[in-house]
Amino acid sequence: MRKKLNVNLKEKSYQISIESGLLNNIGELIRKVHPCEKAVIITDENVDKKYSAIVETALIKHNYQVDIIILKPGESTKSLGTLPKIYNRLIDFELTRTDILIALGGGVIGDICGFVASSFMRGVPYVHVPTTLLAQVDSSVGGKVGVNLEGGKNLVGSFYQPKGVFIDPDVLYTLPDKFFTDGMAEVIKYGCIKDEKLFEMLYKMNGRHEIMESISDIIYRCCGIKRDLVENDERDMGDRMLLNFGHTIGHAIEKYYDYEMYTHGEAVAIGMYNITKISEDRGLTKAGTAEKLKKILADKGLPYDIDVDMKDLIEFIKRDKKNLGSKLKVVLLKEIGSGFLHESDSTFFEKESD
Ligand code: NAD
Ligand code: GLY
Repeated sequence: MRKKLNVNLKEKSYQISIESGLLNNIGELIRKVHPCEKAVIITDENVDKKYSAIVETALIKHNYQVDIIILKPGESTKSLGTLPKIYNRLIDFELTRTDILIALGGGVIGDICGFVASSFMRGVPYVHVPTTLLAQVDSSVGGKVGVNLEGGKNLVGSFYQPKGVFIDPDVLYTLPDKFFTDGMAEVIKYGCIKDEKLFEMLYKMNGRHEIMESISDIIYRCCGIKRDLVENDERDMGDRMLLNFGHTIGHAIEKYYDYEMYTHGEAVAIGMYNITKISEDRGLTKAGTAEKLKKILADKGLPYDIDVDMKDLIEFIKRDKKNLGSKLKVVLLKEIGSGFLHESDSTFFEKESD
């Protein structure tokens, strides 16, 4: 059965649809949200091999003329250098502002396709068809699009909402374990900040197989939380920042190791546990929360221990683009299921490193 969530953003509103096998009907679904002549699928080589043909066939069946742009997989594709190739292909295909782009892939494809959509001819419509767990629960919802610069991740971008998000959980069966585990860090994050029941449900689940049995429900709950945060704070100035739980230390760890040692999810996992330990020590979090977090992370194959001196991370924390001047809004938990923003500065981390 199809699960649906409406993202209410006035004239930018759209629906998130979640259903096993949905990919086969994607032509019909896209036509309902945006009837037009031409559709361009933007994807990467791995996803192309598995899913482009299904999507292309479904689109042709619903009278779209289709082009497919296939990019190299990986974070390095999400760069300014990739853009001219995409723009030129769109020009060659004579795509107009009434046509549509389709982001078929993980967060890398979603972010760059969304950025192209926001900028090509001053904006063309696009939809997300996310194929990683991370993209299904997080990056496809909320309209953050962009590319990386050499100086840092996501430094060029905008808020540009899609016309729809179409999630087929079945595509996760082909996702390598490494990326599934990575996405689980974000799923656990949602439980931590907003949904104790989700956390408890995940806590009891053993292994990917058991998680997949409830995956539609898990994705639905995560997207519901993100939807609520985005509706209340589209431009990320307040409550949406709760999604950064674990990210302050996480980003610092990623940068410290030049993005080579840990995946994003792993770094966030370490960040969630360690910030909770600090806030528990300071009496801001219910005792025992960090221990519970440690157990769920370890069970799901994620790291939690920090192997860098916090003093060395503070320099990277200070440079985080999310800082507001010298102020730093850290996301803490009162307890599992209840995140809050705590205004502080980098000294928040210093005491613990003494
Ligand atoms: P990714 O897009 O690189 O995908 C991970 C890997 O999985 C790739 O090799 C890809 O080819 C492969 N893959 C994807 N779907 C597959 C499938 N179904 N079967 C087999 N292989 C598949 O990585 P990601 O983790 O999805 O996304 C990371 C990106 O998301 C980062 O750039 C991050 O900045 C961004 N992000 C954006 C937001 C946002 O709000 N816009 C939020 C979180 C993360
Ligand atoms: N992933 C963070 C956000 O969308 O705000």
